[in-house]
Amino acid sequence: MSLPERFEELRRRHALAELGGGEERVRRQHKAGKKVARERLELLLDKGTFAEVDKFVVHQSHDFGMAEQQVLGDGVVTGSGRIHGRPVFVFAQDFTVFGGSLSEAYARKICKIMDLAVKTGVPVIGLNDSGGARIQEGVVSLAGYADIFLRNTLASGVVPQISAVMGPCAGGAVYSPAITDFVFMVKHSSYMFVTGPDVIKAVTHEEVSAEELGGAGTHAATSGVAHFAAESEEECLALIRELLTFLPQNNLEDPPIRATLDPADRVDESLQTIVPEQPNKPYDIKEIIRTVLDDHFFFEVHADYAQNIVVGFGGLGGRPVGIVANQPAHLAGCLDISASLKGARFVRFCDCFNVPLVTFEDVPGFLPGTAQEYGGIIKHGAKLLYAYCEATVPKITVITRKAYGGAYCVMSSKHIRGDANFAYPTAEIAVMGPDGAVNILYRRELEQAADAGAFKDEKTREYREKFANPFVAAERGYVDEVIEPRYTRSRLIAMLDLLHTKRDSNPPKKHGNIPL
Ligand code: HXC
Repeated sequence: MSLPERFEELRRRHALAELGGGEERVRRQHKAGKKVARERLELLLDKGTFAEVDKFVVHQSHDFGMAEQQVLGDGVVTGSGRIHGRPVFVFAQDFTVFGGSLSEAYARKICKIMDLAVKTGVPVIGLNDSGGARIQEGVVSLAGYADIFLRNTLASGVVPQISAVMGPCAGGAVYSPAITDFVFMVKHSSYMFVTGPDVIKAVTHEEVSAEELGGAGTHAATSGVAHFAAESEEECLALIRELLTFLPQNNLEDPPIRATLDPADRVDESLQTIVPEQPNKPYDIKEIIRTVLDDHFFFEVHADYAQNIVVGFGGLGGRPVGIVANQPAHLAGCLDISASLKGARFVRFCDCFNVPLVTFEDVPGFLPGTAQEYGGIIKHGAKLLYAYCEATVPKITVITRKAYGGAYCVMSSKHIRGDANFAYPTAEIAVMGPDGAVNILYRRELEQAADAGAFKDEKTREYREKFANPFVAAERGYVDEVIEPRYTRSRLIAMLDLLHTKRDSNPPKKHGNIPL
């Protein structure tokens, strides 16, 4: 082959690989409202930065006439690129090639970039759109999945791993996204389930559509499997880019500074009155969060799931922080199973990746009920407690109102290594609320009192004055400072600056045994 012919051959192969499964299948993909792998990568990555590897890889399968059906790249596009200038490794499954199904060669491609990501300390983003294990390859394909699961696990806590589900993701294939740190889904065009509607119908006689069973809405609001449900593929990819602005490249780095012109000493008078005077009146904790954060920008995670706790990222004086906050506007901010799981997973993520934690606390306690107890609120609530206890990143707490009972201990209290614990004058730190306390302490007197109502009011007032305030805790040093709400931002930023050099560690061990 002459030199020009060699160059021509290279160009021919590039063009062939870029055709994917061919024009007709690309057309079908578009008709289904979905983009193909390379189009998605173009939107995800900084313009012109994608560098593909293994573009000419083909499968080695011979059964079922597969020897005659080889497509360059074999159904997954892999490589590296940049997001906001920082490197990332990526793989994008190509549904137009054998339905994006996973072969031995395809799995090897994904493993190759994951291994490099861990060695170089660079995040991995996977765009999933696949019919699962390549049926023609049998157990070899299953082995490929297991190779990926192992790498997901070993990379966990070393580099951020992000999954977008942009089409089918069924059976054991769901477990790769499930192990990664954040799962994004696209409404109406993606689904995840372990067993699909047909199997469910055969086994349990339940009738359910794929969308109801495992669509983005279901996983974002009901199961909590998805952290984000995007309206479109474009939005999904833009959200991934946004998320990365809060994260370090790996566990040995600090998160990147976020430029802001918002003054660190900005005082906000509106904060003085967000927490209502009446202790049982709801308010939206997100108002406080947004008011305090740089440029009022809060990047909420898991927004539709367990809304009684709010988690997400923001900046304070340019430093990314992880926010965890009880939400009095939903279930009065009670901790239940879902909220505990949501909070614990987020706290652990932040701790893995050196993101300081800022906790806003207004919690009347754990949600009572048989559903909670039978569901294991004891072990699930313990996860949140455990996560906060083991976290060694800077931990700052602001008690806005209620900090009752066990929930007081759990929510980053001083006793579990809270570095700075602030309280508003509206804080009520006690074993329980005044009403419950008076009912227990004066049960007999209440039964015998001539005017039980007046007696109860008096005792409730007495209790409130004595215990339902921040000063008993402040006298003990359990609260470092009682602050006026309008100074929250400046106090948090000053404290974060101070804590920037914090070093703390846990006793050497293989790993702890978090109550799973
Ligand atoms: C090989 C597959 C495939 C698969 C789809 N295709 N799934 N090829 N192995 N698993 C091919 C089809 O033959 C077809 O090829 C093309 O991909 C598109 O598929 P369609 O069925 O035409 O598309 P659509 O109607 O959109 O349906 C998509 C689908 C369906 C819902 C994903 O294809 C499907 O149910 N596939 C099988 C899913 C499955 O059971 N997978 C194994 C699950 S077990 P042509 O040539 O016509 O374009 C599993 C476990 C993982 O994955 C194990 C981890 C431990």
